[in-house]
Amino acid sequence: MASILPIACFFFFFILATSSIAINIRDYGAVPDGSKDSTKALQNAWNIACAADSNAMIEIPMGRYLIGPVLFKGPCKSPVTIHMIGMLIAKKDLALYKPNWIEFQYISGLTLYGPGKVDGQGADAWTKNKCRQNHKSFCRPFPMNMVFSFVSNANISRISSINSKYFHMLVFGSSNIIFDSITITAPGNSPNTDGIHIAVSQNIIIQNSVIGTGDDCVSIGDKTHNLTILGVRCGPGHGISIGSLGRNLNEEDVVGLTIRNCSFRDTQNGVRIKTWQDGPNKLHVRDLLFEDIRMENVENPIVIDQKYCPSRTCPDNLRPSRVKIRNVKFNNIVGTSTSQMAINLVCSASNPCEGVELNHIDLKFNGVGEAKATCVNVKAPKVIGIVKPANCA
Ligand SMILES: *[C@@H]1O[C@H](CO)[C@@H](O)[C@H](O)[C@H]1NC(C)=O
Ligand SMILES: *[C@@H]1O[C@H](CO)[C@@H](O)[C@H](O)[C@H]1NC(C)=O
Ligand SMILES: *[C@@H]1O[C@H](CO)[C@@H](O)[C@H](O)[C@H]1NC(C)=O
Repeated sequence: MASILPIACFFFFFILATSSIAINIRDYGAVPDGSKDSTKALQNAWNIACAADSNAMIEIPMGRYLIGPVLFKGPCKSPVTIHMIGMLIAKKDLALYKPNWIEFQYISGLTLYGPGKVDGQGADAWTKNKCRQNHKSFCRPFPMNMVFSFVSNANISRISSINSKYFHMLVFGSSNIIFDSITITAPGNSPNTDGIHIAVSQNIIIQNSVIGTGDDCVSIGDKTHNLTILGVRCGPGHGISIGSLGRNLNEEDVVGLTIRNCSFRDTQNGVRIKTWQDGPNKLHVRDLLFEDIRMENVENPIVIDQKYCPSRTCPDNLRPSRVKIRNVKFNNIVGTSTSQMAINLVCSASNPCEGVELNHIDLKFNGVGEAKATCVNVKAPKVIGIVKPANCA
């Protein structure tokens, strides 16, 4: 007997430590018919999961659930898992949102996995978006499908986000998040439907995912450190963009980005860094690696634009960009460009790009004539192996 007791105790303890609470949103009144409001059920399920003493698992079973804005707020007592099989459908009335749809805040320890979907029902909102017509006025912030603010240690996998009213996902003030095997889709002409925007965040991985929207597949804002994007298929959309940066005071450096084994198809840009002229703030963008990238029918495959001016009405005599771009490697980038200028590096006259390396680039122009490259204010670019078009050597 004496020898069994410790073993029994061990198993008892093991069961306690690994027990988790399952919370099915149907038990809280969610109705999978796509029309009855299930917001309260989902919100209550979160509140209970977040207050639970041991790991809680929220189940979103098969079906379509109509959902208004929800706030999944921490800190939680234990890590929370959401297993989403069904589909969350956003309400269309813009007045409900303040300003986002599904927002995760102040959580450490979150697992969200599919195969479920969130559908932002964005089509009506897109017609009300006037950002394209008027770049200068601040655009009304439409709801984003999913916001992760001040979230750490999270694993978001196998979910889909479709037709967001504005950006699909925002990662802000967050760290140690992996996005794996996610799908983000919106029509190529839907305004500001960026896939994932990341800012003020570190140690983020996006991998094995498919992103096609009307704006950037991934856009990277200031104070992003150590971001890895692997095996992402981008298109349609505007490509993967760093910036725009350098317009606002208090922006901080972007450091350490790896973008590898990605492909771009029918996109406006491939990989792009964009900074404003005449900015108030001295800023660094450094240690970037773009590697093993395939371009298919991409209008501007490789871009550094330090005269970023989307309205195209900037005066000629603006002070050059104060953003310093340093240590950027483009390694093994091949495919086709739909514009002749396949490589377009326009750096700042007062802060030239330094440590730019082009290693095995082979980009062909889809039209008549040879592809070309522009390199302005790039200090001693290092060219290794075959680089076509070659004008930067
Ligand atoms: C993320 O969560 C999924 C689903 O639970 C799991 O299969 C995967 O291994 C996790 N990834 C990491 C890096 O923990
Ligand atoms: C960068 O992020 C990855 C993934 O989160 C992490 O494993 C790695 O340790 C980080 N590197 C640094 C230098 O912080
Ligand atoms: C590259 O990414 C694709 C997905 O686009 C994936 O299927 C493939 O396994 C990745 N290859 C490597 C070497 O990581």
